[in-house]
Amino acid sequence: MKRIAVLTSGGDAPGMNAAIRAVVRTGTSRGWQVYGVKLGYEGLINSRFIEMGTRDVTGILDRGGTILGSARSQEFRTEEGQRKALRALNENSIDGLVVIGGNGSQAGALALSKLGFPVVGVASTIDNDLFGSEMTIGVDTALNIALESIDRLKITATSHQRAFLIEVMGRGCGYLALMSAIAGGAEACVIPEVETSPEEIAEVLRKSYEKGKAHCIIVVAEGATLNAQKLDEYFRQHKERLGFELRVTILGHVQRGGEPSAFDRILASRLGAGATEALARGETGVLVGLIKGEILTTPLETAVANKKQIDMNLFELQRRLD
Ligand code: F6P
Repeated sequence: MKRIAVLTSGGDAPGMNAAIRAVVRTGTSRGWQVYGVKLGYEGLINSRFIEMGTRDVTGILDRGGTILGSARSQEFRTEEGQRKALRALNENSIDGLVVIGGNGSQAGALALSKLGFPVVGVASTIDNDLFGSEMTIGVDTALNIALESIDRLKITATSHQRAFLIEVMGRGCGYLALMSAIAGGAEACVIPEVETSPEEIAEVLRKSYEKGKAHCIIVVAEGATLNAQKLDEYFRQHKERLGFELRVTILGHVQRGGEPSAFDRILASRLGAGATEALARGETGVLVGLIKGEILTTPLETAVANKKQIDMNLFELQRRLD
């Protein structure tokens, strides 16, 4: 292994820069040449390689986003796009690739690995929905951003005796919603993994009002079938019997910005270094993730094929603590 490349792909996540830095510094310390690829798989198809030395990653550890840029490449989803990317890697004499990203990005890494190219994935997505890593890069920061917003909304909700619906990110996974609901002391939480009827949530609102609570906070995952918009419509139709006046806040992409937390910087540094070590050992077609506190690898095939489950004990806990 002499020349490796690193790219970030899919939704950006706070801590991606720390992972890039770790790949560059652990790679160069082995005497390898390290290249960054601009704009994810899109840049790979178009040979957008830039050589990165140890000084090129100075001052990025604490920066959110990704200095390499990211994209959701449609072309790379096609076999032709994947072959173009493979050609670009070979033409630039790259011996190994590190892919920092979530589910879709690791599916792309698996495709390249199936074409025979040495690839190692680094688990990174604020959704925390990637099998093969108990925590992924960016989750902790996103969770803290959501929590800060919930804390703030609770203050104004209390002043006005209102209910708030707060929608957090999580396309198919309720991790962010559930954890922010527990940490923020929400009255209820709606996640894609648990079927919930609007009447169940209406009941929570009504009971909170009867208990004399000054607010009612409902955290909803964007990927839930019963999303914030549907709940809002339902509550507006039944507003006479709910007790609380209702407001809706959709946090959206604000959760992906911001400086990475200490946890995310450390996790990203460990995973980035772990990816370089895996390539050095000759491991390929694997995802580097955090499993029971250790940095371990899982075959990309397994990571991509499996769905990470939510801990239902935590869902029950949230309900008991409302
Ligand atoms: O990266 C994951 C995620 O933030 C999801 O939570 C969300 O559904 C999606 O990305 C948004 O994607 P985009 O940034 O392309 O709008």
